[in-house]
This record gives sequence, C-alpha cells and structure tokens, in this order.
Amino acid sequence: MKTTGRIIPIASAPKLLAAHDGDLAAALGGSLHDMRNRRVRDLRISVTDRCNFRCVYCMPKSVFGHDYDFLPRTDLLSFEEIGRIARLFVDQGVEKIRITGGEPLLRRHIENLIGQLAKLPVELTLTTNGSLLAKKARALKDAGLKRVTVSLDGIDDAVFKRMNDVDYAVGDVLDGIAAAAAAGLAPVKVNCVVKRGSNDDQILPLARHFRHSGHILRFIEFMDVGSSNGWRMDEVLPSADVLAVINAEFPLEAIDANYPGEVAGRWRYRDGAGEIGVISSVTRAFCASCSRIRLSTEGQLYTCLFARSGHDLRALLRQGAGDEQLQRAIAAVWRDRDDRYSEIRSAATTLPAGSGKIEMSYIGG
Ligand code: GTP
Ligand code: 5AD
Ligand code: SF4
Ligand code: SF4
Repeated sequence: MKTTGRIIPIASAPKLLAAHDGDLAAALGGSLHDMRNRRVRDLRISVTDRCNFRCVYCMPKSVFGHDYDFLPRTDLLSFEEIGRIARLFVDQGVEKIRITGGEPLLRRHIENLIGQLAKLPVELTLTTNGSLLAKKARALKDAGLKRVTVSLDGIDDAVFKRMNDVDYAVGDVLDGIAAAAAAGLAPVKVNCVVKRGSNDDQILPLARHFRHSGHILRFIEFMDVGSSNGWRMDEVLPSADVLAVINAEFPLEAIDANYPGEVAGRWRYRDGAGEIGVISSVTRAFCASCSRIRLSTEGQLYTCLFARSGHDLRALLRQGAGDEQLQRAIAAVWRDRDDRYSEIRSAATTLPAGSGKIEMSYIGG
C-alpha cells in the first residue's frame, strides 16, 4: 500500500498471548511496560492523511501531487471506533491524547470526536496548521479541547509561503493563533521546523514576534521522517545553534521540564518576556523516555514515528473483537516494543520514496 509501510495483522495476537499470559495479566492490571521499561502514557491519533498545505519537509508536491492516492473514506476509523480504542488505552495508563493529521481540522465534524474524547480523564490537545483555527477555535473549546499546538515556519510572508508551498498567508495563521488564545485554548504552542538554508533566517523574527505574547514558541530540528522529504543532515540546524542565535539578542536560561520525558527542552527569557522550547530529536534523541504510541487514520498502531510497519487494530475491531481481546492485542504490541530510532539513526534514513518509513502526514507528528 502506497507510502505507508507494511501492516502486521494483530488478529493473531491471542496466539502470541499464550506464551505471556502472566505478563499480560499484569499489563491489563494497568502497569504496561515495553521492552525498555517505558510506560505508555501518550496516545497520538491521526484523523486524516490529507492536508491543505504542502510543507516542503512533510508533503512535498513532487510526491503529494494532484494524483496522490489518499485513503478512501471507508478506510478511516469512525469516531466511534476511535473513541473505543482511546478508552481502552486510557484503561491501560494513557494520560494524554493528541489529535493530529495531516490537518486534523479538515476532518468533518471533528468537534464531535473532541466531545467524545473530552469525557475521558486525559489531557486532550490537537496539532494544527492553523488555517481553519479562526473559524473553529470556539467550537473546539466548547467541545472540551484543552490546548492547541500550531505549526508556523516563518513570520515573513514570503518565507512562510515558500515553506507551506500553497501560497498560504502568514496573517491567516496568526489570526488562528489569536482566536485559539481568545477561546482559552492556552497556552498556545507554536512549532517551527527549522531547515537550514530555507527558513533559519526566521528564528529571530519569530522570537521577537512571540516574546510577551504568552504563546510558547518551539523550534524543531528537521527530521528524517518518512521517505519523501529529501532529508539531509546538512539541512538540520542543531537546537544548540538556534538557542545561540536567540541568546545573543535575548539572554536565555534553562528551566525544568514540566514532566519527565517532555519532548521539548524549555528555556525562558531572562528579562521575563516568556518561554521558548527546542525539540532536538536529531542531535539529542529522547527515545529513552518515549511513552508515545500512534494510531493512524485507518486504525494501525505504530510504536515509533519512524516505524516501517504498523499493527492492524482496525481488522480486529471490524471482526467484532470484544474489549478484552482488544486490550490484550494493545498490550501485546506495547510489550514487544523495542523502538529507539532516533538514538540509532543511520544511513537507512535516505531510502527512496515508497520503500520505507511511514510518512508524517499519515501518522501525525
Ligand atoms: P506537549 O508538551 O503536550 O505540548 O506535547 P509535545 O511537546 O509532545 O508537543 P508536540 O506533540 O507538538 O510535539 C512537537 C513535535 O515534536 C512533533 O510535531 C514532532 O515533530 C516532535 N515529536 C513529538 N513526539 C516525537 C517522538 O516521539 N519522536 C520524535 N522523533 N519526534 C517527536
Ligand atoms: N521534521 C520535523 N518536524 C516535522 N513536522 C512534520 N514533518 C517534520 C519533519 N520532517 C512537524 C510539523 C508539525 C508537526 C505535526 O510535525 O511542523 O508541527
Ligand atoms: Fe500539512 Fe502539517 Fe505536513 Fe505541513 S507539516 S504538510 S501542515 S501535515
Ligand atoms: Fe519515540 Fe521512536 Fe521518536 Fe524515539 S524515535 S522518541 S522511540 S517515536
């Protein structure tokens, strides 16, 4: 199937279980650990593989053109199916749920899904490109969403348009951010993927823009996710360099993580103008504490952002599996997890399109 990687059926999970029933009994009791002793805490749910942007580092037009074969509707998990899986994950210790895409606000009636998930005892957040936020922020908040993270790769209109590659104006995303904050989806986090030579001249202008705003600007190292973004190490600007640039104009000091295993390193302006973050998955991998699992739009479970294959939960669901059988399948997938891609990143990162890792637009960030 297209660029999404191999799918492993987990309908066979019960067979697998026979050998480990003791462990699974413990797992079902709520202490689910993988092979590196990491707990599952964070479920990221992709609700569409489509996007109205064509960011150069994510959905380059050369691959995601007019004839690109997106998933048909019937392949998508319904909101009921997503809600059921989410509840089972919460029973197994998940505390945070993040809705992703593609662009999640393109999924019709997304606020209905938010409403369902908001009933669970989790922190519910969403990552968006901001283009539909001005229109939808209030409804999302009313449905029970807690916060949003908005992608923004430049503050200069020409640079931003070059990065999104669909001529989308920066002002519209800024309006979306303002609407989110006004609706109480705060603090708003603003993510900028830095590509050396493309938008690294935006670091200081972005920092200047968001100082004193109450929003948390974060710089992400360009990653080798998927196999179509033409990733090259020399286009990665290390977070240390980003911090040095900002620190030279606005002195910074490090602050403690909000929770163990937080993805972003936190810094604050010494003059009290607010907080920024850096996400350094290339130069300082954070696999050792990775507690994230990802559910794709069509119901595959992925235990790593860089996985080559997923586990087919949808097949189990649609075969009529009961909650306990699903719990066992989920537990088996997590228990067998040994991923630490960013720690062992290698030449395998430059495989040609279609041959390897799943795409970010398919699995979400
Ligand atoms: P909050 O602290 O709850 O806001 O969440 P977060 O820090 O996880 O933020 P977010 O979900 O926005 O993640 C920010 C970015 O970090 C993502 O868009 C990815 O680019 C990157 N990222 C998140 N999780 C992983 C991961 O497991 N592995 C890698 N390599 N990168 C990740
Ligand atoms: N490297 C780093 N971050 C990426 N994102 C998408 N593709 C990449 C990549 N190759 C980020 C987006 C967004 C989130 C969903 O993931 O900018 O903030
Ligand atoms: Fe769309 Fe986000 Fe990918 Fe950009 S990074 S193409 S906005 S899914
Ligand atoms: Fe987790 Fe894989 Fe990212 Fe490492 S590379 S932090 S294991 S998702």
